[in-house]
Amino acid sequence: MTHFNKLVAILLTVIGVTLVTASPRAAHVQVLDRRWSYDVCNNCSLYGIPAPDKTTFNDGPIGKWHADRTYNLCLGSPPDCSQKWTVTLDFQGLNLFLNFSKAPIGYTYSTAGVFLAPQGVGFGPSFNPPPTDVTPTYKCVINADGTATCIIPFSVLTGKDTTDAAVLFNALCPLGSRQALDFYVAFSGYVTNSAGTYAFQQQYPCTNYSSAACQSYCTSCIYAEMSYRCTKCNVPCPSSSTTSTSSSTSTSSTSSTSSTSSTSSESSTSSTSSTSSTSSTSSTSSTSSTSSSSPTPSSCDVGTAFGYQDSIHSHTLNTQSGQGCKRWGWYETPSEVDLQTGISGILYVGAGGNDISKAINVGTWSAVETGGSVMVTYSLSAPYTATEIHVDLNCLPIDKCAPGQYTYGNTFSGLGVSSFTTPSIPFPNCGSGETPYLIVHARVSTTTTGSCGTPVL
Ligand SMILES: *[C@@H]1O[C@H](CO)[C@@H](O)[C@H](O)[C@H]1NC(C)=O
Ligand SMILES: *[C@@H]1O[C@H](CO)[C@@H](O)[C@H](O)[C@H]1NC(C)=O
Ligand SMILES: *[C@@H]1O[C@H](CO)[C@@H](O)[C@H](O)[C@H]1NC(C)=O
Repeated sequence: MTHFNKLVAILLTVIGVTLVTASPRAAHVQVLDRRWSYDVCNNCSLYGIPAPDKTTFNDGPIGKWHADRTYNLCLGSPPDCSQKWTVTLDFQGLNLFLNFSKAPIGYTYSTAGVFLAPQGVGFGPSFNPPPTDVTPTYKCVINADGTATCIIPFSVLTGKDTTDAAVLFNALCPLGSRQALDFYVAFSGYVTNSAGTYAFQQQYPCTNYSSAACQSYCTSCIYAEMSYRCTKCNVPCPSSSTTSTSSSTSTSSTSSTSSTSSTSSESSTSSTSSTSSTSSTSSTSSTSSTSSSSPTPSSCDVGTAFGYQDSIHSHTLNTQSGQGCKRWGWYETPSEVDLQTGISGILYVGAGGNDISKAINVGTWSAVETGGSVMVTYSLSAPYTATEIHVDLNCLPIDKCAPGQYTYGNTFSGLGVSSFTTPSIPFPNCGSGETPYLIVHARVSTTTTGSCGTPVL
């Protein structure tokens, strides 16, 4: 492999809609065990096999990892980086995706490329020497909407010439359900405006990330570093025959804004294609609702969601001694080691009496700690979105019951967000004998063209 260009940066970030393929579009989905969503994992023969987890990307330097899947790109020389945009990493199908956002206003991509070379495995410091040349090893496709995409198949990343997911996952997750492969990475290319053509590259890597900001950069690094963790596929084979959805999407012709990526996009190689979907697949014969003025989708409050991990790790809020919070919902009690490996679960709305069989599965959550900082990622399944997010990470006993008083909170306007990662929340320093707890809470909305039901609080 070859090598690459410059810097990286670290943003705190967010991002990423993970179009959870799965399907829980039916309101009452019972897939209780599904703690983590990755399209490929929908094949239940992969149950229990560690797979690369897109919610756990880190950027280096190794050993000082910072949870982040987005790198800054800079026009001109990296130290100044006054014109910034981004590239975001993702796992889709059996591929690593590198999604370049649009170039700064006034510029268009003329080329975009990625350099990627193996660095090592896990956090252990037996690393390959850094690259001295970061000429792109992969050329990216420039999309009609002004973005650019690089798709690197797992077979290429691992050197295993196969499309067998189990074999590829095994190669991508050599340590099991924890830290995985590390890479040297660099992004570069050219953008053009009316005055000329200019080179771009990633921002310098951050060497000291603290107080939620980068304190210093490696100004001699022509590369950045990248790693991810693995999480076990968690879609068990049904004992009886369950639903398994018949994809056929909703009815509303209006293809709501929120890119509902209709159907469950297969597990296979989700390919780029889908630029502005909509029009394309109009196969839906049905005359029905073509009545010109289709109703405008509006947002309905669905209610309160709490994160549920599993029956062992999730405890009901109303069993807390002292302030029992007098409501349904759960808290988890992860150790710091659990969070370093990463924990995840389902977001449920409306489990009155803590009865999951009555709840609506609206998406997934995960929490991962790196260097004392915990980040919680929400991933709502269409058509659900979150209009508020609250996370409480503290030491038992719980003394705050109102989500507004939790350790972290955020409110989103309009239709809300379909995915979100919190900024770093420090792992609490509990006294000996005290237990840390985590509450994952959201206020959930849905898009509908009909009338709203009563929210379930
Ligand atoms: C990256 O691009 C692919 C293809 O367009 C898309 O399916 C995926 O959601 C994108 N991921 C992120 C994190 O933007
Ligand atoms: C499910 O995964 C197994 C193991 O990787 C593979 O052999 C099988 O073909 C997959 N099935 C489907 C439907 O993709
Ligand atoms: C990182 O930056 C912080 C804030 O400037 C500083 O207090 C700390 O000593 C730095 N750590 C290292 C290892 O340089």
